Amino acid sequence: MHSSSDPWSPLTLRSGTTLRNRFLLAPMTTDSSHPDGSATEAELTYLSRRAATGFGAVITSCAYVHPAGRAWQGIGASGEFHLDSLRAVARAARGDGGVGILQIYDGGRIALPELIGPDALRGPSAVPSARPDARTPRALRDDEIEGLLAAFGQAAAYGVKAGFDGIEIHGANHYLIHQFFSPRANRRTDLWGGNLEARMRFPLSVARVVRETVGDAVTVGFRITPFESETGGYTLDDAARLADRLAAEGMDYIHISMDNFRRNSPQPEDRDWTKSRQQVESRNPIEAIAEAVDGHSAVVASGGIRTLDDARTALTAGADLVAIGRAALVDPEWVDKIQAGAHSQIRTHLPPDAGDIESTLTIPPRMVRYLLSRPGWIPRVGQDS
Ligand SMILES: Cc1cc2nc3c(=O)[nH]c(=O)nc-3n(C[C@H](O)[C@H](O)[C@H](O)COP(=O)(O)O)c2cc1C
Repeated sequence: MHSSSDPWSPLTLRSGTTLRNRFLLAPMTTDSSHPDGSATEAELTYLSRRAATGFGAVITSCAYVHPAGRAWQGIGASGEFHLDSLRAVARAARGDGGVGILQIYDGGRIALPELIGPDALRGPSAVPSARPDARTPRALRDDEIEGLLAAFGQAAAYGVKAGFDGIEIHGANHYLIHQFFSPRANRRTDLWGGNLEARMRFPLSVARVVRETVGDAVTVGFRITPFESETGGYTLDDAARLADRLAAEGMDYIHISMDNFRRNSPQPEDRDWTKSRQQVESRNPIEAIAEAVDGHSAVVASGGIRTLDDARTALTAGADLVAIGRAALVDPEWVDKIQAGAHSQIRTHLPPDAGDIESTLTIPPRMVRYLLSRPGWIPRVGQDS
């Protein structure tokens, strides 16, 4: 890719899909699907409203590929019976001729026992996550690992059949793929664990199976956490090596998941933002990943992008695209207002009343509860600045 700092210029990905501008709606689970993983009307309305604005592409909430990997009460792509629901999500995400991308994931050791059953928790190794009250998973067997690779391929196939233009593999935020890459979570001594090369095997295998399943004309992106801030975690250099190899696997884009791209802060596994972390990489992940992929894949920056200036800064640092999460929750018409230069009309805070958040901003009730359960994460009128 040749980077342009003009956020309104179109970009053609290696799949041949052209995005009308550089803004993507970030993947955000609504936690609001039916218990069987089919989309509810509330989440379709939530997505449609945002997809009706001028985003270059809309990435969906994460869809589970295997029932034992559910970390949210979100959408599923684990069986033929999810196809109708996925079709509805694809229609909502594509809006009026836009580009819709289905994000697929498995929660691994941070799946929720209340969704998967008390004994179903599994991960690369029998090591609990750093989240409070985390349970110890059992280590996946070889045949289960092969089964999960097949499940990622199958989920991607459902996505294409349902009408999506692309698939994003969720390799970030401490979910299963990230866990295989992490020396903290992956203590295996077989071919799936050990040195960096072995820990890259599962992420690269998922990328390969998805690409082989969907072919070259469907967009495939891969989301990564650029480094771990926990002791003993992988480094930015490790992630850059992975990004380079993912580009060689034909990924259309590498999506860097951060909470704040300016502060180089990735999501901590315990989600406790009040704690100080041992180390923050001095090099900006956008520059490092852009250098590693060297134009073979586009680079998506995310985390704390709220203004046109933020977007330009990320693009100038080497990103080709920027993903917008919380800003588009708080103001569903964010991208249109940015494009119109109506900066003063952009809503920057959640309304104080939960009912108002739901009705004014078209956010499903369970998602509102989740947002409000993490005070300070999203500014709210009357609570902070
Ligand atoms: C409600 C909510 C749900 C999220 N769900 C997902 C998800 O399903 N998949 C994912 O990769 N990231 C998820 N994220 C992370 C966002 O995609 C994004 O990386 C993060 O919010 C930082 O970007 P922002 O500052 O623009 O919000 C979620 C974030 C929020 C606020």
